[in-house]
This record gives sequence, structure tokens and C-alpha cells, in this order.
Amino acid sequence: MIRLEPLTGHHDRKGFDCGREALNAWLRGTALQHQGKGISRTFVAVPHDEGAVQTLQREGFEDIGRTSIFGFSSLAAALVLIESLPAEIARRYPRQIPVTRLGRLATRADMQGQGLGRLLLTDAVERARVAAQSVGSAGIFVDAKDPAAARFYEHFGFRQCADSPLKLYLPIW
Ligand SMILES: CC(C)(COP(=O)(O)OP(=O)(O)OC[C@H]1O[C@@H](n2cnc3c(N)ncnc32)[C@H](O)[C@@H]1OP(=O)(O)O)[C@@H](O)C(=O)NCCC(=O)NCCS
Repeated sequence: MIRLEPLTGHHDRKGFDCGREALNAWLRGTALQHQGKGISRTFVAVPHDEGAVQTLQREGFEDIGRTSIFGFSSLAAALVLIESLPAEIARRYPRQIPVTRLGRLATRADMQGQGLGRLLLTDAVERARVAAQSVGSAGIFVDAKDPAAARFYEHFGFRQCADSPLKLYLPIW
């Protein structure tokens, strides 16, 4: 029903609404620009095919079309100081380490609670693992937007960092 693919200019970025204007605006205005400059990569959840579009329309998602975005995640390379990591994990690292930053992750407000966030997060973690086989990255770092988002990441094994409960980290190795 749903597949994940890299964001392109063909996707309907304006039609996406996760209920958080800052995230909507980033997808509309910044994601493609950053992708073009190699700053971050964004992956979108989209209808698998025309059959999926029709099924979803029958289920009441009347605005959905072939170019609709159901959710997205973005990844970038980053450097973090170990003071920012969970204390017990920081011990094994030098002073600063390369990580993969999960910059943003969001799902359509009317599709939340149906497993889409899990799909996007699992995919992002797998992409970070694969990339780390070729370019050093010790783990995945995320800045959660609020305590509820932080709980979502904790649910998947991310640990709160020492300097902020909204920064979370998941070792890859
Ligand atoms: C946070 C967000 C991405 C979750 O997406 P979702 O599609 O609703 O999540 P799913 O339905 O895939 O949930 C997957 C699992 O996470 C759990 N979960 C979801 N939100 C959670 C939360 N806030 N706290 C704890 N667990 C949560 C679900 O219970 C589910 O658990 P299970 O599979 O073990 O039963 C989504 O609510 C969202 O886009 N919110 C607005 C934007 C945002 O805050 N993004 C994060 C910013 S960094």
C-alpha cells in the first residue's frame, strides 16, 4: 500500500500536513534545497500504486493522489561532542564523534497511530546502518521537537542525552 522513496520535485509537498507548521514548512520550502546542496536527504512515504490511491480514497482520504506524501524523514551527517550523549554511552568514545542526524520525521496528522512512523523510523535506522558501513558514524542522533516526540524515539530504544531530555541517541555499533 505504501512505499518509501527519495523526495523529488514531483511530490505534493504543499498537500502534506503533520499538524506541526514548522515541519510542514520545512518540507515545503527547505527539504529539496538542502537535498540539492547535499546537506540532507529526505525520504517520503507515498502510495504504492494507483490501486493504493483508490483504496485510500474509498476509505475517506479523498484528497490523496499519486503524488501525495504520507510521511517523511530526513538524514544528514553531523558531529557531536560526547558531553551531549547519554553519560554511560559517552565513556567509550573520544571527545567528539561522527553521527547520523535524524533531522526530521513526521506523518500526516490523519494517518498517525497506524504504523507509518514506525515504518519511517525503521527505514531511517537501516539507511544509517548501511551508510555507516562505508563512512564512519557511531550512531543516530535526534533533536525531538517536544516531550511526546521524545517518548516516540525512546519507544524504539533511543536514550536521552545528558544535556537535554529532547536530544536522543541510538548507537549503531
Ligand atoms: C511522532 C510521530 C512521527 C509518530 O508517528 P505515528 O505514525 O503516529 O507512529 P506509529 O503509529 O508508527 O507508532 C509506532 C509506535 O510508536 C508508538 N508511539 C507513537 N507515538 C508515540 C509517542 N508520542 N510516545 C510513545 N510512543 C509513541 C506507538 O504506540 C507505536 O507503538 P507499537 O508499534 O509498539 O504499538 C507522529 O505522531 C508525528 O508526525 N507527529 C508530529 C510531528 C512530530 O512531532 N515529529 C517528531 C519531531 S522530531
